[in-house]
Amino acid sequence: MRVVCLPGDGIGPEVMASAERVLRALAPDLELETHLLGAAAIRAGGDPLPEETLAACRGAAAVLKAPIGDPEFDAADIRPEQGIMRLRAELDVYANLRPARQGDVDLVIVRELVGGLYFGARGVREDGTVFDTCEYHPRQVERIARRAFELARARGRKLTSVDKANVLDTSRMWRRVVREVAGAYPDVELEDMLVDNAAMQLASAPRQFDVIVTENMFGDILSDLAAAVTGGLGLAPSASLGDSGPGLFEPVHGSAPDIAGRGIANPVAMLRSAALMLEHAFGRTEEARRLEAAVDRALADTPTPDLGGSATTASFTEAVCGALPAGAR
Ligand code: NAD
Ligand code: IPM
Ligand code: MN
Repeated sequence: MRVVCLPGDGIGPEVMASAERVLRALAPDLELETHLLGAAAIRAGGDPLPEETLAACRGAAAVLKAPIGDPEFDAADIRPEQGIMRLRAELDVYANLRPARQGDVDLVIVRELVGGLYFGARGVREDGTVFDTCEYHPRQVERIARRAFELARARGRKLTSVDKANVLDTSRMWRRVVREVAGAYPDVELEDMLVDNAAMQLASAPRQFDVIVTENMFGDILSDLAAAVTGGLGLAPSASLGDSGPGLFEPVHGSAPDIAGRGIANPVAMLRSAALMLEHAFGRTEEARRLEAAVDRALADTPTPDLGGSATTASFTEAVCGALPAGAR
């Protein structure tokens, strides 16, 4: 029942305080313990993912993470983002589920999280050329494809695989492997879509999608877009899952340095990430639904400034707690 909380940077500690307040009310038996990640960890000891944080995460039932990142380190060699990338790789949480829902739009982006451009060979050649490489092994594609098909089977039975197969060899292999995996899922309708078209379709006709599966960087970009067309970045949660070991639950958004420290960050993405944790890490689906319902209620009653309202992070959090069923406040 141990949950490692990583408050991170910028608005991270503000939205994490909200999640801790709500979890203490809703699921008081969970043991929440806090560790350093990102810029906070670099400042404390020079390493964005300290060994003791990694060890605590490995031994936990789940990791609940707020955003990391600080402009102070943008040009540094050691950066906060390296901490989260390494944590994802160490936990091998290759399947990043990013749901986006509003009105009759209800889709999930399944983003491959530990391969591709983020983790391929990189460097500088003698002539000064800088390179990052998009690399995938077919096994990496196969396991994310299986996850996506399983999810599609449990939902609307439609899977859109997004790639750039008209240009990239990794995408051509991706497409071939996804087609092979599709053989085991005849009940799921599979379509391939090029990523540039997918961006256009997401912006203009998002209702057509059920489950989207795509490689790491395409998924990064498309998930911000999906968030924007379903109410905003402040609302979008994610769950990163492997085959075993703890899952990692974090908002899609970043540390929002432009509003950090003002107490006005929208905690919904963080709270919905906590709901995904209750569901996926603990199988506590009832509590997850109660939390989601309370968040929806508070959103309707008293939204934060990013949504045109005037609630603070703290007052919104109290509204969520007030909307939880009596006995869980
Ligand atoms: P961002 O997501 O932090 O912010 C983009 C815009 O959305 C900003 O105007 C911000 O104020 C707004 N916003 C985001 N979340 C919000 C919330 N909860 N409530 C209200 N408004 C919100 O993206 P950015 O500015 O490009 O990145 C800032 C830093 O965050 C960078 O260092 C980046 O690397 C990092 N980052 C971290 C994660 C993560 O930890 N998973 C994710 C994305 C970006
Ligand atoms: C996200 C973020 C991260 C990513 C950064 C901070 C490394 O943008 O979780 O979407 O690109 O994966
Ligand atoms: Mn991103």
